Amino acid sequence: MRSVAAWWQTGVIYQIYPRSFQDSNGDGIGDLPGVLARLDYLSGLGIDAIWLSPIYPSPMADFGYDVSDYTGIDPIFGHLADFERLVAEAHRRSLKVILDFVPNHTSDRHPWFLESRRSRTSPKRDWFVWRDPGLDGGPPNNWLSEFGGPAWTFDPTTGQYYYHAYLAAQPDLNWRNADVRAAMHDVMRFWLDRGVDGFRIDTVHHLVEDAAFRGNPPNPAWHPGLPPTLALERRHTIDQPEVHEILAGFRRLADAYDARVLIGEAYLPLDRLMAYYGAELAGVQLPFNFHLIGAVWRAPVLAELIRRYEALLPAGAWPNWVLGNHDRSRVASRLGPAQARAAAMLLLSLRGTPTLYYGDEIGLSDVPIPPERVQDPWGKNVPGFGLGRDPVRTPMPWDGTVNAGFSAGEPWLPLNPDWPTRNIAAQEREPGSMLALYRKLIALRRSEPALSVGDYGAIEAEGSALRYERVAEGARVEICLNLGDEPIELVRPRDATHIVLSTFLDRNGESVAGPLRLRPAEGVVLACARQP
Ligand code: GLC
Ligand code: CA
Repeated sequence: MRSVAAWWQTGVIYQIYPRSFQDSNGDGIGDLPGVLARLDYLSGLGIDAIWLSPIYPSPMADFGYDVSDYTGIDPIFGHLADFERLVAEAHRRSLKVILDFVPNHTSDRHPWFLESRRSRTSPKRDWFVWRDPGLDGGPPNNWLSEFGGPAWTFDPTTGQYYYHAYLAAQPDLNWRNADVRAAMHDVMRFWLDRGVDGFRIDTVHHLVEDAAFRGNPPNPAWHPGLPPTLALERRHTIDQPEVHEILAGFRRLADAYDARVLIGEAYLPLDRLMAYYGAELAGVQLPFNFHLIGAVWRAPVLAELIRRYEALLPAGAWPNWVLGNHDRSRVASRLGPAQARAAAMLLLSLRGTPTLYYGDEIGLSDVPIPPERVQDPWGKNVPGFGLGRDPVRTPMPWDGTVNAGFSAGEPWLPLNPDWPTRNIAAQEREPGSMLALYRKLIALRRSEPALSVGDYGAIEAEGSALRYERVAEGARVEICLNLGDEPIELVRPRDATHIVLSTFLDRNGESVAGPLRLRPAEGVVLACARQP
């Protein structure tokens, strides 16, 4: 007997980048009252959970991923009371709320770090990763920051270096210290007690570093065309074995509450990623699977990716898929507007929890940012490689009014130039829009158990088409996606009866008798005859 699926298995998660979702007070920066005002839109879209990128007090060196108080709300976003109202109103609409939890590092303005850097004998000295200079007086070893330059910054007050996997303004916590663990567990309880339904845990593969501080070996695949941050393998700085015990601690804590979910952000090869489910599945329930983001958009490649991911999943582990987020180029820019529709169908018909990124539901693309408006520290510190993430974080265009209805004031990042036509209100009026497609796909996933909880039947590539079946007790559907830009004709799927949904939204209900013709980039969900 199949056990009843949890909400985070059948549900669709929607990522909100709060700075860019909806501004309520005209300062050009999105905020919590803004999110609150858009809850009806979100429940109308049909999603089940919102994940909010960080809303805690922060100097914003990395736009909230540098936290100076884990149990507060940054005044830019509102107050704790706004957050509590948001949770209550979301729950009233059966929407779950997932917070971003940033345990790897604090802000350099966090009181813990200010205390730690005061003296070598500070009671919080060991809360962060301090080391003596190397023999030459330089950094203790060759470790590199993800955001450019050495991962060590010298602190003249105490004559030691501190470690930071990201910016110097983001000192790494020392997770080998029991007090750090206890303090961060208290943080998790603080939010869980306030009704938060789970956490997306930032950069979990970075939580611990090699205890012996061994230097990283050169990356043989590196060449000067690649960012200098990739010049070394990260053998001793990511994915260390001790991380799993830390995640198991988070999980025990979350499991003491009802129906909470932990999602782990780890950019790792599939075989390494699987370890984040934990031994006996005691790790995070959903280690983010980002492998669609970088995949070559060809049917045999995707068929192989899906099969490989499924084959590697530990017994009982639940899959998940992601097409984009606040760190990566948007799907509409990567694949073009036509294939972005096929990608939407893929994401919402694969087995496992899908996570959507705000704006993708209207086909928003990366927005060019004029040099004087660049904000992202990564793009600034490592220039020339297109690493800046501002283009994927631009304001949500809601309608055709001033500043696309996002803000009465000048938005903190420019709007997409096509906002007068590409916005939520315009697509709500247009029956064939991307938004209409997303609504239909989400609704279909909810009503069709073969899609929400079913297993796979065959997964195959046929020419430029990716085909797979989803099967649940008594119900079966087949998905055919033309990933090419030529029309194709497929042998009639064994026992498909009719088209339930086409990405073009113009042949729903059409019966399938002979061969199935698909237009360039067209995807269809087909209903199949019931099994005897
Ligand atoms: C994660 C976040 C990213 C942030 C980094 C450092 O990768 O998604 O936005 O810059 O961690 O916290
Ligand atoms: Ca605001």
